[in-house]
Amino acid sequence: MSKSGDLARLVRDRAGSAPPDYGLVLGSGLGHLGASVDGVAIPYADLEGLPHAGVSGHVPQLYIGDLEGRRVAVFGGRSHYYETGRADAMRPALELLDELGCDRLILTNAAGSLREDIPPGGLMLLSDHIAFAGTNPLIGEADERRFVPMTDAHDPGIRADLRAAAAAEGVALPEGVYCWFSGPSFETPAEIRAARVLGADAVGMSTVPEVILGRFLGMRCAAISVITNMGAGLSAERISHDHTKQMAPLGAAKLERVLRRFLRD
Ligand code: HPA
Repeated sequence: MSKSGDLARLVRDRAGSAPPDYGLVLGSGLGHLGASVDGVAIPYADLEGLPHAGVSGHVPQLYIGDLEGRRVAVFGGRSHYYETGRADAMRPALELLDELGCDRLILTNAAGSLREDIPPGGLMLLSDHIAFAGTNPLIGEADERRFVPMTDAHDPGIRADLRAAAAAEGVALPEGVYCWFSGPSFETPAEIRAARVLGADAVGMSTVPEVILGRFLGMRCAAISVITNMGAGLSAERISHDHTKQMAPLGAAKLERVLRRFLRD
């Protein structure tokens, strides 16, 4: 049995065998959303290969159960490229989802905005992304499926449904391009200006490798950023991880409403 097969068996033993309708990955300061799931919580420590040390603001548990009438698998925390130097750090988690029969993936993250009209406390739906970190989670993958097409990697149908859910909730959900920087240092003001010229609307340190892996596994993917700050040099505020964690709950409350409405409708 493959490793993801072993993990899937453990998860099915504890949570039942119905395939999740959606997999969700929660970003910095958003991990508590998993607690809303009516089901079971499995610590990552029980799931070999899943990242159980993690970054503060993340909750290393997999929640499986019902949320607004849908079966969901919610990863309360993620591993980032900057923690290990491995862009494929979330591959075991996504392979587990795949093994459980889940083919829709919604990713969330905290991000810095490059647009005045997408302020801190707001949300941005990713229309597309730029992999600026200089690596790829599929490097070393031998299977020919590694040549993953990335047009419409951010699924137009799921995005339309998320926009409709946001409109129904009265939450602004502008779309924009997310640019992946490796971190863990924040960007310089010059890098932020460069990202802007390249067509980015927000910057962050995650999500893009998961979209690439998700597409590799044949999943439909979408991602929402919770904007915690303006990009470096665009405002007087000091950027820090503490600031990210402080600001995330503002957007997280909106994100939760949008996600609940999306799942319900
Ligand atoms: N840059 C990168 N990642 C981030 C930021 C940022 O400004 N804010 C929150 N995560």
